[in-house]
Parts: sequence; structure tokens; C-alpha cells
Amino acid sequence: MTTVAPGTTALDRDWWKTATVYQIYPRSFADANGDGMGDLPGITSRVDYLAALGVDAVWLSPFYPSALADGGYDVDDYRDVDPRLGTLADFDTMAAALHAAGIKVIVDIVPNHTSNAHPWFLEAVAAGRGSRARERYVIRDGSGAHGAEPPNDWESLFGGSAWEPLGDGQWYFHHFAREQPDLNWEDPEVRADFRTTLRFWADRGVDGFRVDVAHGLVKDLSEPYAPWREVAETLRADGSHPLWDRDDVHEIYAEWRAVFNEYDPPRFAVAEAAVHPSRRARYADPQGLGQAFNFAMQEADFDLADFRATIEAGLADVEVTGSTTTWLLGCHDTPRVATRYGLPLAAGERAQQVARQWLLSDGRAPEVDLALGLRRARAAILVLLALPGSTYIYQGDELGLPEVGDLPPEALQDPMAVRSSTEKGRDGCRVPLPWTTTGPSLGFGSGGSHLPQPASFAAYAVEAQEGDPTSTLSLYRQALALRSELNRGPELHWVDAGPEVLDLERPGGWRCVTNFGPRPVDLPTGRLLLTSGDLVDGRLPADTTAWVATS
Ligand code: GLC
Repeated sequence: MTTVAPGTTALDRDWWKTATVYQIYPRSFADANGDGMGDLPGITSRVDYLAALGVDAVWLSPFYPSALADGGYDVDDYRDVDPRLGTLADFDTMAAALHAAGIKVIVDIVPNHTSNAHPWFLEAVAAGRGSRARERYVIRDGSGAHGAEPPNDWESLFGGSAWEPLGDGQWYFHHFAREQPDLNWEDPEVRADFRTTLRFWADRGVDGFRVDVAHGLVKDLSEPYAPWREVAETLRADGSHPLWDRDDVHEIYAEWRAVFNEYDPPRFAVAEAAVHPSRRARYADPQGLGQAFNFAMQEADFDLADFRATIEAGLADVEVTGSTTTWLLGCHDTPRVATRYGLPLAAGERAQQVARQWLLSDGRAPEVDLALGLRRARAAILVLLALPGSTYIYQGDELGLPEVGDLPPEALQDPMAVRSSTEKGRDGCRVPLPWTTTGPSLGFGSGGSHLPQPASFAAYAVEAQEGDPTSTLSLYRQALALRSELNRGPELHWVDAGPEVLDLERPGGWRCVTNFGPRPVDLPTGRLLLTSGDLVDGRLPADTTAWVATS
């Protein structure tokens, strides 16, 4: 397999800096074999859709063999495809079809933990205390008589103790579900094996990697252990947290960079790193992963001050990193944007907070104004696509899908929900896409759907939106096509448009104006390119964005 592209230009090498990336959650995208679970041939069958949408790249959440204790983020084998999702040959066919359509392929690498069915972990369980096999994981002696108690009181992010007993007085550490034992990154074999995995996919033509929990790999488990109440707060600006964002993690990424640079163009990587903002730059270092997710936009409310501050902070970051920033409204871990923006907020309340209370606990369902939420989500995506840097689009947001907040409890799969009697978890944004307005699982596949689709999804189907120039899908298509023409150079100038209007200008006289206030406002003079909603007497109404060419 050839990996060298002769005549590669700087533009080819830097494609990711301004890319629009579409996140595919493979189990919920398209199901080719009718077993109710999306698969790689399903993605191949929808390449035309992705090309018509106009995205530059797709990022695939994990499709590796997995017992799905955490939606595939519990990996049994990093260098294969889950048989329910296809084969390596299906992967090659899919990648070739995407590449033929001009779409790059990014895969998810999960280095913090394996699954508990990974051969390494099975070996570690069987091999016993003091064995070489146990060195690949974070394993410690328990406390109390015969190690019957966990080593300390640390908790897992999914609830309960972060330690599980191995039955012989030793315990393994897991940041996430108990089916996700954390790897020991001090072990040279662990390091070498992941470099092999990166080459395995890069050799198959993968263009880049999304690095899961990039800030968690290196840990300081020297004793005495700090009490959980100190460790629970994860963000520190000085790298002193025992479990998160330790300086040494960047040694690993320097090794990975050497692997990425073996290829032409060099392979790209983006870090998922929930770190103190002042430390994000380290993950975006060109000598390391190169880009780091900026999640601030999905935390922001639909609010002028929030948007402006978030954009300014993202751009300031770029000054430090020399990379580009990423903008996103949602992903597979976050309540859908069309619902967030339609939540009723009391004074001082934040949408993410309210959404979490409702969706992640057993709170009373609020009256969501979905029409308002969608109107705002449409306005927001035009802002994101008008910004310098890279924009990530979560599958289904281009259809305006709402969160499914009322999945029956027996349908829930997310370990956050399964492990708790009160939390609903993240399944509500992972419900399979509706492609057609009728038929079994609304065109997702010929069988059922691994998470039930509500009847209301039919109205959001691709089929229903495709021919409608006012649909959200049409808005995304037009915006992505225009962006690829208009996005020239990284500069952004703010235009002062008063307390209720966000107004920014990009090179070439590309203006993006959003009305966050209640009353219609005048548009700048120029040629109207696109609006997220209808104008009212030629003026821009509330919760609406317009792109205008002023020169
Ligand atoms: C990341 C993923 C999330 C997963 C977790 C553990 O945060 O985005 O879905 O549960 O890592 O792998």
C-alpha cells in the first residue's frame, strides 16, 4: 500500500486547519445488513450524501471489536473491525469511496484504556500478582487485611469506585466503566504497540486520528494518595493533578508525531483533552498532536456575550498554539444543540446545566421550545462556519435532530445510565438517523434500530428535507458550499453593531451578522448570500444569522 503522495503541496498538508469535519457515530449512521446496528458498508452506501453535504473529512467514532460497554470506547482489538460493523476489507472499500469523493478519513484512537476483553487484560487477570502482564495496566495492592479494600477512595467518572478487585488482593484502576481498565503508559510495550496501531491505520490510508481522553494517559500514583475530594476537581493550571494533564504526557505525543511525520502528507491528530484552557496549547503543539478540541462553543448559551467571549478565547488560543482551533455545537457526548437552545432558562441558569439535570438525571422534563431551539441552532451553525479554523459537525445536527430525552429505561445503553438508577446518560443524541419518512427504522436499515427512534424523527428525515430549499439540510449544504469559496485567510474583524448583534467580517468582505436581540435589525449593505431564516421586511429578525458579501 502506498503512503507517499508525490507532489504534495502545503495546502494538502494543512487541509485540517480549515476543514469541516463530520462526526459519524458508526452504530447509528446507516445499517447495511439490517441487524439494527449501523456499519461500515452503511457508511459506504451514504458517501454520496456526505459529498453532497460538502464536508472535507469524516471522523469515525470507534468501530473496533468491542462488547459495547461504552459505545465502542471499550476496545478489544485496535487493529480490526467489529464483525457487527464489517471487516477490514469493508473499511478499505469505505475509505476508498470517501477518498474518491474528496473526503478525508479520521479514526478514533482510544489509548487511555482497553476493554476488559482485550487479550492483554485477560492475560493480566490470569497471570497473577507480580507478573509482566500486570505491568501493562494500572494495578495496585488493595488496602486493609489481604488487600480486601480498594487502594484509595478515588471514583470513576461513570460513578462508583475507580478500582475493581482482581481477586488476589490487587485492584485495577478505571477512569471510566469497570470494563475499561486504564493502561500503564510507563510500560514500553504499551507505547510501542500504539505506535504500531497508528501505522496500521495510516498505512491503510487514514488521514488522521482523534485521540480519546488525550490528557489522561500519564498518572502519578505515588503514595500517599491524595483524598478524592482533592482529586475530584480535575482542572488545574499547573500540571499538578495526579491523574490528568501531566506534563509527561507530551513525551508520548512527541513519539506519535514522529510516526505521523513518516507519512506524506503527515498524518493529522486532534486531542480530546478536557484541560484548563491555559494548558490546551500543549496538545495543539506542532511537535505533538497538532490540534486540540475547543469544547467551549458547546458549553455556550445562545447569547451574544457568550458567543463573543467564546470566539475571542478560541482565537486567542490560536495565537499561542500556532495551530487552528475547532468549533463545535455537539458531539456524541452532549445533549443535542437544537434541544439545548430551546430549553426554558430561569435567570442565571445555563442551558448545559439544565440539560444535564434533565437528561442526566431523573428530573422533570422541561417544556422544550423545539422551534426556537432549531431556529437558534441554524443561526449558530452559520456563525461557526464563518469562523477561521476547523468546524466539527455531529451527525444529525445537519437535520436539526432534537435530543431524545424520553428513551425507555430498558433501551438505555450508556454505562452512565446503566450504572445508575437516576442518570439517563448520552443515548439521547445517539439515536439512529432517519433517512426516509417511512419504512423500518426510517431508512436507517431494513431491520430495527438499536436505540428506538421516536415517531417525530420521520419529519426530520433526509428524504423530507432534501428537496426543500428552506430545510436545515439545505441550509448546511449551502453554507458548506459557500464557505469553501469564501473562507480565505485566518483574519477576523469585529464590527461594532450594538449590544444585541454579533457582527464579524472575514477577508474579501464576507460579513456574518447574528441578531441575538428580540427586534429585527438592518443588514449591512451588500449582496445577501445566505440567511438561517426568513428576513422580515428586508430586516434580520431575532435568532437569525445572515451572510452578506460587502465587496
Ligand atoms: C471520551 C469519549 C466518550 C467515552 C470516554 C471514554 O470522552 O468521547 O464517549 O465515554 O472518552 O472512552
